[in-house]
Formats: sequence, structure tokens, C-alpha cells
Amino acid sequence: MNMTTATQENVWTVVVAAGSGTRFGGAKQFEMVGDRRVVDWSTTAANSVSDGVVVVVPEAYAERERGIAGGSTRSASVRCGLAAVPAEATIICVHDAARPFASEQLFREVVAAIHNGADGAVPALAVTDTIKQIDAHNVVVATPNRASLVAVQTPQAFRASVLREAHSLNPEGTDDAALVEALGKRVVVIPGETLNRKLTTIADLQWARSAARGEV
Ligand code: CTP
Ligand code: MG
Repeated sequence: MNMTTATQENVWTVVVAAGSGTRFGGAKQFEMVGDRRVVDWSTTAANSVSDGVVVVVPEAYAERERGIAGGSTRSASVRCGLAAVPAEATIICVHDAARPFASEQLFREVVAAIHNGADGAVPALAVTDTIKQIDAHNVVVATPNRASLVAVQTPQAFRASVLREAHSLNPEGTDDAALVEALGKRVVVIPGETLNRKLTTIADLQWARSAARGEV
């Protein structure tokens, strides 16, 4: 039983690592950063606050990684993971393997927000660029007030029953909070971490290797 939530909660985390890394040019989740692989960093942090962790990987790696085979989209892979989370789980976190530097403290904070009554909790950073909404012809439709915008990260934590309901009709979304929001549930934002950058390109991996050497 984890320390954050004493005995009342049973916390599980789904680490999604089943992507193909198209923009990176390969399976970035298995690249080395410092002394271990990207996916190992992500699962280690998840383990520290979870009663159990499910790692979802591409089908070809499932046996080698002792993981669950994922699906063709991120949302589908989350559902593959959810199917392996026991019914006793009361809080479920979803974390991108591609974010190796999410801290244990960040996991504790999103879990605590659910324990304290939110349906969903997501880490986020203020946006520094001005963001434009555009149409299919690259014409600007609107410029939302930057003060109302944040850039969200994982781990995202949810009341387990709410996350399962949100996924029940096999919806697609770029994160899980969007699916929970679509149910009209309350998702809160907590402060994200600048080190919790998602590795998308080769340049991101090079940054992560520098960060692991303490150079950023
Ligand atoms: N992911 C997954 N299953 C998929 C797609 C993505 O488990 N079918 C996971 C990735 O492994 C990653 C996280 O979701 O940890 C965020 O996805 P992203 O950064 O987009 O990774 P990829 O989909 O692998 O990269 P790309 O979009 O460039 O192909
Ligand atoms: Mg992707």
C-alpha cells in the first residue's frame, strides 16, 4: 500500500509504451538515457506511488518486456492497459512512457487530487507562445487568451470508475482527460514540471541524455 493515500485507495498506473515513434524514427521508448531505457525511467517513477503498474508495449515486444500488447492508437493502448488493471483499483494513473522525467512527487500530487475529490487531475505548464486556432486552409480562426491556456503533461490520474466509463465506448483523444471531460466530469490542473518533457524527436532524446548527465 502506498504512503500517499494510506489504506483507502488502491492506486494503479498504466504506462503506455506501445507507440511506433514515427516522428522519432523508431521505438524511442527503448532508447538508453543515462543508465537505463526511457521506459524504465517512466515505470520506476510510476512504481513508487502505485500498488501496481501495467506497461503497454508494441505486440512484438510484449513477451520480452513482460508487458501488455497495445493498440493502433494511444487511446486504444490505454484501453489494453485498463483491461489488465484489477477491479480493486480505486485510482488509475495513465502515463506516457515517452516522459521519463516525471517525478515521484508529481505522481503523488495527481493521486492526492483524486483522493481529495476530483474526477481527474493533470499536470500542466503555462503556455509561453501565443496560440492560434486555424482552419483547414491555414487561416486564423481565433487567438485564445493565453492566460486561459495551459500545456498538459502526464501522469494524469482519475477516479477509476470515471476513467473506465470514459473509455467504455472506445473514444479517441490525445489524452485521457479529454475523454473524462467529455463526460462532464471535473478535471483539475496541478503545476507541471519543466523537466517532464515528452520525447518526440531525436533532439528531445539528446536533451534527455544531457539532462540525465545533469547538464540542463
Ligand atoms: N502510445 C501507445 N500506443 C500507441 C501510440 C502511442 O502506447 N498506439 C504511447 C507512446 O509509446 C508514448 C505515448 O503514447 O509513450 C505518447 O505518444 P507519442 O509521443 O505520440 O509516441 P508515438 O506515438 O510512439 O510517436 P509518433 O506519434 O511520433 O509515432
Ligand atoms: Mg503518437
